[in-house]
Amino acid sequence: MLSLLIHSLLASPTSAVNNGLARTPQMGWNNWNSLGCDVSQALLIDTSRVLLDSGLRDVGYNYVVLDDCWSDGRGSDGYIIVDKRKFPQGMKWVAKQLHNMGFLYGMYSSAGELTCARYEGSLDHEKEDAQSFASWDVDYLKYDNCYHKGRFGYPEVSFNRYNVMWEALNATGRPILYSLCNWGEDYVHTWGMSIANSWRISGDIYDSFSRPDDLCSCTDATNPHCIAPGSHCSVLNIINKVAPCVDRGQYGGWNDLDMLEVGLGGMTDEEYKAHFSMWAAIKSPLLIGADLRELSAQTLSILNNPAVIAVNQDPLGKSAHRIGRNLNVAKDKYGIGETQIWSGPLYQGDQLVIFLNAADEDMEMSATLDEIFVSDGPEGSAAQTKQRWNIYDLWAKRMDQTTAEQIVESGIARPEFKKVNWYNSTELPYAEGLKAGDKRLLGQQIGKVGPGGQIKAKVPRHAVKMYRLRSVDGGVKRYSIYKQEL
Ligand code: GAL
Repeated sequence: MLSLLIHSLLASPTSAVNNGLARTPQMGWNNWNSLGCDVSQALLIDTSRVLLDSGLRDVGYNYVVLDDCWSDGRGSDGYIIVDKRKFPQGMKWVAKQLHNMGFLYGMYSSAGELTCARYEGSLDHEKEDAQSFASWDVDYLKYDNCYHKGRFGYPEVSFNRYNVMWEALNATGRPILYSLCNWGEDYVHTWGMSIANSWRISGDIYDSFSRPDDLCSCTDATNPHCIAPGSHCSVLNIINKVAPCVDRGQYGGWNDLDMLEVGLGGMTDEEYKAHFSMWAAIKSPLLIGADLRELSAQTLSILNNPAVIAVNQDPLGKSAHRIGRNLNVAKDKYGIGETQIWSGPLYQGDQLVIFLNAADEDMEMSATLDEIFVSDGPEGSAAQTKQRWNIYDLWAKRMDQTTAEQIVESGIARPEFKKVNWYNSTELPYAEGLKAGDKRLLGQQIGKVGPGGQIKAKVPRHAVKMYRLRSVDGGVKRYSIYKQEL
């Protein structure tokens, strides 16, 4: 009896999503953060070309997602009408262009009578709209939360509202990645995985590393009073919100920390690297938010770091989690300042370690092996603490500025990318690259740590150090209570 129970616990799938998509977090581009309602078919096609020519598609960014503001009312037949001034050739044509370039096409709607920018919403028209998306060959739906007619406030009410679209999408027979955008309301981290491939856990991100803002007043997604997630949420605010529920993300369904701000201009280079690293480590979808027609070399070489992306696309699909937090550090003019240490399991027994310095000054940070492997056994009881580990710095091999500039200025054409040691995940998927120990996914080895030892680093203000530990002696077999898809 007991063994039967254990077996069913081990075997039960922890995700109810069965559309086969987002086995690792989805990657791509979305126009909203930099362009808002300024959308058109030319924008999508021009952006896809940049993604292709810069090699960003090859490292994994393969969904091109159109956000709000694309429709022009609803016809008397109940079907939504595409704005022909912005999309003269229609959506099926757009999808075809994107598919021909090797991309998948994403669109947006809201589980409300209107979208947030007050265009037509899908509430009570889910069936017609799902049919339209499928008939246009759409591959992804971001589904927002504005104008919901008060149908929220209790988890089951929100679940039911979002479930109608999930069922409508399923009924079309077309695999469509379903991405919820209800800003973390009604404990979506507890039910999102039953019907969706990802779910936003906060109000809208804005282009600041740590500035607090009244419009983003909640700091904890598990707080029942956090019912007005708002907007203007900083990177640090979102990290702190998701920290208590990172374990909800797993293959097929992910906590969505919102689209990336990398390249928009409001943060320093170190802050953008920290933002990107944390999104990767927490297994958030990675949707570029910058206007890529203005792509800079510096932005490219953050977004294209394969050693960091490999963490996000790790086949184990486990988020890192916070193992240490220190609030007793230098504060900025808003009273904000803290340091955090994150750690988490990676494919084949590797381990991720991140030192996040959000204090208002440079900091010495350190973690012992006992701390790093605390989740495998507290107080130094984990087998991994008895092992020796090579330490790889995942940012040490960031693409150099000259090469990045040459690519951005089209001085290096795609066929020549191999010369600059380009990582192409369409030829060598991350799972295979990791298995083969591809050097481009390891960054640079900077040392070793063994029993009783610790990792130490000087971390600049508002920056991260991001390390992969790989066993020198061949690793420890991990026992997992989760069904895995390796
Ligand atoms: C917000 C959403 C944003 C964007 C916007 C469009 O609710 O969180 O990501 O989609 O609506 O109006």
